[in-house]
Amino acid sequence: MVMERTYIMIKPDGVQRGLTGEIIKRFEQKGYKLVAMKLTKPSKEHMEKHYADLANKKFFPGLIEYMTSGPVCAMVWEGKNAVLEGRKMLGATMPSDSAMGTIRGDFCIEVGRNICHGSDAVESANHEIGMWFPEGVCEWTRCDEKSLYE
Ligand code: PPS
Repeated sequence: MVMERTYIMIKPDGVQRGLTGEIIKRFEQKGYKLVAMKLTKPSKEHMEKHYADLANKKFFPGLIEYMTSGPVCAMVWEGKNAVLEGRKMLGATMPSDSAMGTIRGDFCIEVGRNICHGSDAVESANHEIGMWFPEGVCEWTRCDEKSLYE
């Protein structure tokens, strides 16, 4: 079975609003395995690199200002289809399009404060994991793996 890793980040609004535990709880209870996590206040340069493909968007300066306004919780989650399933768990980028039961659908109102980020493809996940965790991730085995996977 191919296990994927995805980069999930709780944005400054999510950390400030005390949603870190709730978001971790959802990923843990789904069955994903946390293999890296840190609370960090990213530099402007780091955030500009993370969102480099959005540099020409009108909202880019505001996005960088918001993302550097406080700590983010950077995480790597591992499991079957973690990239796609992780995005489903976060919900649509626009909170008005996010289904109830998703993190954004349940907890936020507008896109400029949409609580969390998740990698959109395996390639971008690998790139983002390398950027945020150059030291690597923690390899371990969940003791319930035999109950999670056939
Ligand atoms: S776009 O315009 O289609 O490329 O944007 P999209 O793919 O929908 O979103 C890319 C990321 O930009 C964030 N975003 C915004 N941030 C602040 N303000 C506004 N108006 C805004 N619009 C989009 C959006 O949340 C995506 O970031 P992540 O970190 O992936 O959620």
